[in-house]
Amino acid sequence: MPLKTVLTEALGIAVPVVQGGMQWVGYAELASAVSNAGGLGILTALTQPTPEDLRKEIRRCRTMTTKPFGVNLTLLPAIVPPDYNAYAQVIIDEGIRIVETAGNSPGPIIKKLKAVPNMKVLHKCTTVRHALSAQKLGVDFLSIDGFECAGHVGENDIPNFVLLRRAAQEVKIPFIASGGFVDGEGLAGALALGACGTNMGTRFMCTVEAPVHINVKEAIVKATEDDTELVLRRWRNTTRLFKNKVAVEAKKIETTSTTGEFAEVQPLVSGKRGREVFLSGDIDHGVWTAGTCIGAIKDIPTCAELVSRIEKEAEAAIARMNRLIVQTSKL
Ligand SMILES: Cc1cc2nc3c(=O)[nH]c(=O)nc-3n(C[C@H](O)[C@H](O)[C@H](O)COP(=O)(O)O)c2cc1C
Repeated sequence: MPLKTVLTEALGIAVPVVQGGMQWVGYAELASAVSNAGGLGILTALTQPTPEDLRKEIRRCRTMTTKPFGVNLTLLPAIVPPDYNAYAQVIIDEGIRIVETAGNSPGPIIKKLKAVPNMKVLHKCTTVRHALSAQKLGVDFLSIDGFECAGHVGENDIPNFVLLRRAAQEVKIPFIASGGFVDGEGLAGALALGACGTNMGTRFMCTVEAPVHINVKEAIVKATEDDTELVLRRWRNTTRLFKNKVAVEAKKIETTSTTGEFAEVQPLVSGKRGREVFLSGDIDHGVWTAGTCIGAIKDIPTCAELVSRIEKEAEAAIARMNRLIVQTSKL
C-alpha cells in the first residue's frame, strides 16, 4: 500500500523521498533515475557552468523521465557570485515547478520563484530560526537539515532528534527531514517525528546511477560513522566532509594556524579538486562531502532498488509499530 503524505500529494510523486541537490553529482542521470523510481530527483543548477547549460541539462533530463523532477539552487557566499537570477529565470522558463533552495539570503530568489503559478519551493535550513524566516517568505516546504548531514551543517550543531521536534513545534508549513537518512526505518522515524518525507544526499550518491567514480561509492560502503571531518568552523562556514588525507590536513591547519587566514586552507578545500575526486576516483585528491550516514550505507543499489526497498521497509516499520498497540483487555 503506497505511503501518502502532503509531500507525495503536492509534488505528484509515489514515495515521500527526495534526492537533495548535490554539487558535481546532481546531473540528469541521477535525477531522472530517482524520479523514475518514484521519488523526487533534483538537478543541481550550479553543476552547470552557465544558465544556458542548465537549460540543456533540464531538457536532457526530460528525455530521461516523464516524472516530476526539481532543480536545486544553492545561494552561497562567493567573491564572484554566480548569476542566480539568470539560473532562476531558466528554471522558470523551462517549466520546472519544483525548486529546492538552500543557502544565504534566499529572499529575492524565493520571491521570484513564488511569483510563478503552481511553483513549489522547498527551502533547506539547519535552524528553526532560518525555517521561520523561510516560512515568512512563503516557501511551500522546509527541508530540515540536521547536524548529521553532508555539507553545510550550519553553526548550531543540533541533530535531527531535537531539530525535527523543534521544527514541528514552531513551523506551520510541512517539512521534510534531511540528514542521516538511508532507509525505510529512517523514513518511518521521520514521519513519526512530524516530517512528511525524507531528503537524502549521501545515500543517493552511493547508487549505480550516481555519476561519480566507483571508488567513491566503495569508499562510502567501507566507511564508518566516524569517517567524516568538520572543517571551516573558524570561518563560520562549517562543512562536513569525508575524512580523507586532505580533509584531515585542512582541519590540522585550521586548528593550528596562528594567522587564521582562510588562504592557508583554501587550496586544500577547493571545489575544483573535489570534483576531480569524483571523476578520477583518487579519493585523496581533494575534499568531498559526505554525511555521518556513510556508516549505515552497506551497498550500491540502483535508485529503483533503493526507493522500492525504502518504501517496503517504511511500511513494515509502521506496521510493526502498530502491533505494539494492544487492547487493554488483552493485557
Ligand atoms: C556530494 C554532496 C554534494 C552536496 N552539494 C549540495 C549543494 O550543492 N547544495 C545543497 O543545497 N546541498 C548539497 N548537499 C547536501 C544534500 O542536498 C543534503 O541536504 C544532504 O546530503 C543531506 O544529508 P545526508 O547526506 O545525510 O543525506 C550535498 C551533499 C553531498 C553528499
